[in-house]
Amino acid sequence: MTTLSIYHRPHITHPVRHLTSFSDISALLANAGIQLERWHIATIAPDAGSEELLRLYDADIERLKQQEGYTSADVIKLTPDHAERQALREKFLQEHTHAEDEVRFFVHGSGTFFVPLDNQVLRLTCGAGDLLRVPANTPHWFDSGEYPDFVAIRIFTNPAGWVGLFTGAETFH
Ligand SMILES: [Fe+2]
Repeated sequence: MTTLSIYHRPHITHPVRHLTSFSDISALLANAGIQLERWHIATIAPDAGSEELLRLYDADIERLKQQEGYTSADVIKLTPDHAERQALREKFLQEHTHAEDEVRFFVHGSGTFFVPLDNQVLRLTCGAGDLLRVPANTPHWFDSGEYPDFVAIRIFTNPAGWVGLFTGAETFH
C-alpha cells in the first residue's frame, strides 16, 4: 500500500499529515516534481529471475526510455535473510543525490523513500505496482527496513547503474 507522511523538522517523531489516497499522494508529489504512477501488477513466480521480470515489464520500461532518455534497467531483490541487509540498509539510509533520475518500479514488497523539502520531509512508502521517479540531484534517502522484502526494477540513464553522492546531512527513519 502506498502511503505518504509529511514531517516538519525538527519534529520528526510525528507527521503533520498522513495520506493514503493514491491520487492525493501522486498530486502532492507532482507539485514537488516527483512522479508517481501505478503500473499493472504481474503475477510472478517467487523464483522468477531478473531477465523474466524485465521481460514482463518491457513495454513500460521501453516507453520510459523513449520518453526520458533512460538507457538501462536492472532488478534489485532484498529478502529478510539477505546476508548484507544491514550494510545495504545503512548505505541507502544516508542522504544522497544522483546525477540522474532515481527510477524505481516495485514488483513485489515495499520500501520507504524520504525526500527533504525545505523544513519538510516527505516519507513515501511504495508498494507493488508503484513506479517512482525522483528528479536528478534531489537529496533523498531510502529505508529497506530491518527485514527487507522487496523486488524492484531500477531504470538508469547511466549504464554503470547506481552511483550516489552522499551529502552527509542528518537523516531519520
Ligand atoms: Fe537514491
